[in-house]
Amino acid sequence: ITQNTALFTIFGATGDLAHRKLYPSLFRLYKKGFIRDNFAVIGTARREWTDAYYHEVVLDSIKDLIEDPEEAKKFASHFYYLSHNVTDSAHYVHLKDLSEKLDKKYDLQGNRLFYLAMAPEFFGIIAERLKLEGLITTDGFNRLIIEKPFGRDYESADQLNKQLRRSFEENQIFRIDHYLGKEMVQNISAVRFSNMIFESLWNNKYIDNVQVTLSETVGVEDRGGYYDNNGALRDMVQNHILQIVALLVMEPPLSLKGEDIRNEKIKALRSLRLYDTPEEVNRNFIRAQYAGNAEEGLVGYREEPNVNPESITETFVAGRIQVDNFRWKGVPFYIRTGKQLASKETYIHIQFKHVAMNIFPTENVSEVAEPNVLTIHISPLEGFSLRLNAKRVGQGTEMKNIHMHHIYDEDTQLNSPEAYERLLLDCLNGDPTNFSHWDEVSQSWHFVDRIRKVWDEQDASSGSLFEYESHTMGPKESDELLAKDGFHWNQFN
Ligand code: BG6
Repeated sequence: ITQNTALFTIFGATGDLAHRKLYPSLFRLYKKGFIRDNFAVIGTARREWTDAYYHEVVLDSIKDLIEDPEEAKKFASHFYYLSHNVTDSAHYVHLKDLSEKLDKKYDLQGNRLFYLAMAPEFFGIIAERLKLEGLITTDGFNRLIIEKPFGRDYESADQLNKQLRRSFEENQIFRIDHYLGKEMVQNISAVRFSNMIFESLWNNKYIDNVQVTLSETVGVEDRGGYYDNNGALRDMVQNHILQIVALLVMEPPLSLKGEDIRNEKIKALRSLRLYDTPEEVNRNFIRAQYAGNAEEGLVGYREEPNVNPESITETFVAGRIQVDNFRWKGVPFYIRTGKQLASKETYIHIQFKHVAMNIFPTENVSEVAEPNVLTIHISPLEGFSLRLNAKRVGQGTEMKNIHMHHIYDEDTQLNSPEAYERLLLDCLNGDPTNFSHWDEVSQSWHFVDRIRKVWDEQDASSGSLFEYESHTMGPKESDELLAKDGFHWNQFN
């Protein structure tokens, strides 16, 4: 284990993300020795907090992880708080002074990581000021970590990117997509490229369709204001889903180096068919809103706090993505995601074609041969399963569908690093593999913007916004999308 040396400056240190994810992840890295003596954290936000109070907050956020209280106290002593108004240039002077002081105290060698855990409208201004006010060092590394949303369409993302690029080079910008930090998302390439039985079949000759499901049981909770302005297409499809699709679609990279993988992902995203006309969009993508569930006392989306009572923002999206390249032409990639669905689960089904001729009995039997399906379980289960056919034990030739599972046990899962922990360490190591490159972000917006534009031009009366009862798997139109092609959402996992 190499000890890393860096000053973390967290903008938005009083916020939910810092409390829920960043402090615990830093503590995990600390316990494992990835950061130890030579690190410090400056937390900034508007509120007036003292260092002592900040330490209490940090300790509270890691309380479930503490084994040795002395160790935890020592960890918290590396944290410093500075009340900061991001638009006031005078405040950056204090920030610079404190940064230099800590750099000396902890021997940080000018290595700086700026984490913007706050509303995106401030990303540009912070990046600009960091440079203008001399917070970027010349003797160490300087890296900027930002969270989505990265724009709300291509235009705004491009504008934001240009603003960031005035202070940071592309290779200094780490755009977080926390799905890329998940164990099983990182495992997609491993299972694809190290198994002959999959690598050799990974194309349109042998694969019938691919299904990607990211379902959630929660509604919009207290994020109504944010969510109503965005919707599921921007919140989940533009980033997480298209990143997963890119990993499934891409050609084998030359190596596992960040740059090699990115090049392939960018090519993959460029090969997704863009839907331009309303007919194409409506044929391939559907949107819906949850309508509540009286039995369970759940209200409909439009009755949620901070949601416009006439909102036509979608809380569910299902779509058919088509990949126009040599490997994938003709194989639909079905995707779906939504709030208040029946389960909180993320999984991918790769459904193979059926054998050309079935010689086994199909009548008066309880099971018939079914297509092989490889399932990649991303969460809460982590692992793989494979559906195969075999003969039922006994006389005759009746079929039995077999599920082979390799699901990581609880201990393994518990010891597996959290997404944010992995990503923070990658960033410390300067490894961009599991972050979104600007070319990926921009290409994803091109795909999503066209769909959005068609939807925005169709008002509520157009009949293109469907409803679903809460805690079901979405509207019937989502099933019809697959039925039109002779498929259905695989129910098992
Ligand atoms: C976030 C979305 O990016 O991902 C949330 O903004 C969503 O709306 C969350 O709930 C889901 O992440 P996970 O890791 O819980 O599947």
